[in-house]
Amino acid sequence: MNRKYRKTIIAGNWKMFKTPSETRAFAEELKSSLPRAKRCSIALCVPYVDIPAAAKILKDSRIAVGAQNVHWASEGTYTGEISADMLADLDVKYVIVGHSERRQLFLENDLLVNRKVHAVLDAGMNPIICVGEDWDQRQIGVTLELISYQIRTALAGVTPEQMRHVVIAYEPVWAIGTGNTATPEQAGEVCSAIRGVLRKLYGARIARSTTIQYGGSMNENNAEALLAQEDVDGGLIGSASLKVESFLKIIQIANQE
Ligand code: PGA
Repeated sequence: MNRKYRKTIIAGNWKMFKTPSETRAFAEELKSSLPRAKRCSIALCVPYVDIPAAAKILKDSRIAVGAQNVHWASEGTYTGEISADMLADLDVKYVIVGHSERRQLFLENDLLVNRKVHAVLDAGMNPIICVGEDWDQRQIGVTLELISYQIRTALAGVTPEQMRHVVIAYEPVWAIGTGNTATPEQAGEVCSAIRGVLRKLYGARIARSTTIQYGGSMNENNAEALLAQEDVDGGLIGSASLKVESFLKIIQIANQE
């Protein structure tokens, strides 16, 4: 990380875990045990139905509330879907877009991800855009090309001005939920390549100030080495964000001088 130029963001991705009651208990506990230092930003991306509970408890805290998905249209006949304006109205600050589980299980492609990025930005929120290769793609050696394509497509039509609100998360698919974390060098290499793509698209200043997180089995034991990489500006954390203790430890690590 490099706090001089950009924000470090530690974000939990709860996926389909925790009821509203469990959310309330977690948020109370996390809020009351935060370290004093404010060197990193914190977010909890919770299931849709948990958002009101999280937003209420975290209202005057430094923990932002995030969602894990959104529909691309502003409104319409889309049974079961949720719009960006609905989320913004609940004080949601971040929305995860293009998570690999959505890409794989719900067949979301890069063009759809781009539409969702615009929906989030238009509603005044911050997209956390997930990109990453699977194991076969890494073995074949197309990781950097693939990620460049994912980034360029996700950001099509996004203005330099809007880039202030964009967060990128590098999440190698083979590392998500598997316990196989990327090595700090692997994470650093791809995050630095992502910054290179941003530099080509938007210039050095914007590339330098964009937060690029790593995600994929990040936990309290490996966070320090991952965050020590210059281009890794935080984490998108799944299973280790489900327990206050482990999530808090990662926050403490990100807060170290
Ligand atoms: P994990 O999930 O930390 O459980 O691997 C990360 C993510 O999917 O964002």
